[in-house]
Amino acid sequence: RLELRCERDGADGAELRLDAHPSLAVSRAALLPPPGGPGDAAGRALPVESRPFASYGSALHIALPQAPRAGQLLTLLIDYEAGEGPGVCWLSPEQTAGKQKPYMYTQGQAVLNRSFFPCFDTPSVKFTYSATVKVPEGFTAVMSATSWEKQKDNTFVFKMSQPIPSYLIALVVGDIVSADVGPRSRVWAEPCLIEAAKKEYDGVIEEFLVVGEKLFGPYVWGRYDILFMPPSFPFGGMENPCLTFVTPCLLAGDRSLVDVIIHEISHSWFGNLVTNATWGEFWLNEGFTMYAQRRISTEVYGLPYTCLEAATGRALLRQHMDATGEDHPLNKLRVVIEPGLCVNPDDTYNETPYEKGYCFVSYLAHLVGNQSKFDAFLQAYVNRFKFQSITADDTLGFFLEYFPELKEKGVDSIPGFEFDRWLNTPGWPPYLPDLSLGQQLMRPAEELAELWAADSLNMEAIEAVDIMGWRTYQLVYFLDQVLQKSPLPEGNVKRLSKMYPKISKAQNAELRLRWCQIVLKNNLEAEYNKVKDFLHSQGKQKYTLPLYRAMWGGSEATRALAMETFSATAPQLHVNVQNYVKKILGLAAAE
Ligand code: BES
Ligand code: ZN
Repeated sequence: RLELRCERDGADGAELRLDAHPSLAVSRAALLPPPGGPGDAAGRALPVESRPFASYGSALHIALPQAPRAGQLLTLLIDYEAGEGPGVCWLSPEQTAGKQKPYMYTQGQAVLNRSFFPCFDTPSVKFTYSATVKVPEGFTAVMSATSWEKQKDNTFVFKMSQPIPSYLIALVVGDIVSADVGPRSRVWAEPCLIEAAKKEYDGVIEEFLVVGEKLFGPYVWGRYDILFMPPSFPFGGMENPCLTFVTPCLLAGDRSLVDVIIHEISHSWFGNLVTNATWGEFWLNEGFTMYAQRRISTEVYGLPYTCLEAATGRALLRQHMDATGEDHPLNKLRVVIEPGLCVNPDDTYNETPYEKGYCFVSYLAHLVGNQSKFDAFLQAYVNRFKFQSITADDTLGFFLEYFPELKEKGVDSIPGFEFDRWLNTPGWPPYLPDLSLGQQLMRPAEELAELWAADSLNMEAIEAVDIMGWRTYQLVYFLDQVLQKSPLPEGNVKRLSKMYPKISKAQNAELRLRWCQIVLKNNLEAEYNKVKDFLHSQGKQKYTLPLYRAMWGGSEATRALAMETFSATAPQLHVNVQNYVKKILGLAAAE
């Protein structure tokens, strides 16, 4: 049921067009009488037609009896059934951790919720929602909602009282249970994972929320809960309001991947309150969130550690630009989404909006030159644009308005650093924030990588370095350096593997990814099974695609490994991830 208010007398005539998907079977659309007024409660049936729109959805054309006038309220009832669309994932018991019961979840971002319900599936429109969900005995439903209530007959009623864009509506139905981890937070997971989930984050979430509120203003969403998803969930985390979805890979046992949680918490202000109006400016969500994440991390863990984490982010941006070519049109902060360049908004998901976006926000902070002044700006920015959807012009216009002395100085047009260049020129960021405070943690990792890259190994120097006490991100940074220098001289990686079982036998997903990349780049055939095992164990897009790219770009043997692994795991992967892998392996029909 859609409640709409006509914004202005339209030239579009008496037709309503909604985003939908071929997998939605619409059986009836009707106009309901105004609330309290006379008229048939079943409403007046309207002609409805689904027309082709794009590879990722269709358009639902609904004929209205007459063109609505500005201010007019319309209530529409649409009867439909959702099927096997990309936004609604139906998992068999084998695809869950417990392997006992089926599971379903939805993933809306970027443009997938049109296969969940017909709507204006654009981040430029915000609305509240409510949902009544009836599930079979033995299942629980949860949603991204500010309130929920369980009624009789296994029926759950949800309400989101703050306006949000369509991509943030999310639903999970499964055999899930919860445990408290803070005054406004609980974790949700399948029963077999709930102990580990509670242990991972018990007592740590609240501090991130408190620091976030101190920096960016009130947390408006009420609760902040975390749901551990089945292994095929394609993202590290998804910031569904009130209820972040995360990959079970975060259950590292040592909280070492908590930066993902801080990231999703940061979206509570950047993304979920202030939202990019189009997916072409996705960096407004992700670049600001990376900046906010690292501000919270700095307050909680200090600058050296945060700089180290940011350096691993920079390495990812380097790898991404090397792989795609700096000049690739997706390596701009402002992406043109139209036929020819990039047609599907989901294709804008890469490191550029994250890490180049982070550099641009850091550059703005650098222009201000004072952290507390910039923090105050961020808080004012959230307050100015909360519950709205905006473009980069709004952001930058507000920045210059907030700092008139900078506007006066013309900081938007300093040669080489023009705001326009930041937005519209592909390539490496013209400004990089200073991460040198991370040097105390990075330097030993860099030195060790150098030692391992030598033609004849200096084992004495290598053995003198004790990596047992290193933080996970130091190891990640070390492995990224090794990868960059790979292939290493013959035999070195084999020795490295034997020397550091903490790395080559790691259970931590970030370490496993890097180790697999190193194994492939060095043709370490003896450990190809690790690549296979890792790809069988989870389906995160950012882990899956780089490994298939590496396998496909490698030898006959790694290509065969890719084909074999994909044919075994494809049914478990999210359809979007499946399609991206098919493209890499040359199995995709051209769009
Ligand atoms: N909103 C994103 C995930 C996303 C992006 C889903 C685009 C669909 C389309 C989420 O906040 C995110 O960025 N997750 C990262 C976490 C990381 C940057 C700490 C991820 O999944 O890797
Ligand atoms: Zn994000």
